[in-house]
Amino acid sequence: MQAAASIRLITKEEADIGLLMEADPDEAMVRSYLDDSLVFEMREGCRSIGCLLLFSYDKTLMEIKNIAVAEAYRNKGHGLRLLQFAIEEARRRGAQKLKIATGNSSTGQLYLYQKAGFKITRIVEDYFTNRYPAPIVENGILCRHQVILEMLI
Ligand code: ACO
Repeated sequence: MQAAASIRLITKEEADIGLLMEADPDEAMVRSYLDDSLVFEMREGCRSIGCLLLFSYDKTLMEIKNIAVAEAYRNKGHGLRLLQFAIEEARRRGAQKLKIATGNSSTGQLYLYQKAGFKITRIVEDYFTNRYPAPIVENGILCRHQVILEMLI
């Protein structure tokens, strides 16, 4: 029988940068928001299988800056569970709105976030092509624009 996954707060020094970079390939960008984020780790038994970074803009607005599940553990519901955890955690900390952003080419992620209850509220045109040093291509689509999704919690 598989052990149930658990989620716990860890320090930024304990964060798995390699896993965070699966969600955001720019290491400098990851390190820039890691410092000011709450870092959560998902574990199954003694294995670290997922991570979640929650960032506070102010008392009312939080953002999921990074969410990733280790490749071998994907498509088993862990991503949805991390999103549900983030919603509960942000609510518990007093936030009224939770934000998450991704690229126009991240079709699976856009599906998952909307399935979890987020609504697309804004597109920042050419966000990725202007800021990231190398082109990002996913699902045969160039990642150009940032898609912002939000949820009132
Ligand atoms: N492509 C296609 N479908 C996907 C994808 C994807 N990349 N991710 C999730 N889905 C679908 C699944 O098929 C599943 O559909 P179903 O419920 O209809 O069966 C549903 O979304 C739920 O998936 P989970 O199993 O809960 O999600 P998973 O554990 O696979 O984690 C995650 C999703 C975190 C996006 C994982 O694919 C991952 O780590 N990807 C690489 C890193 C990444 O892209 N992170 C997000 C970047 S944006 C940000 O960090 C703010």
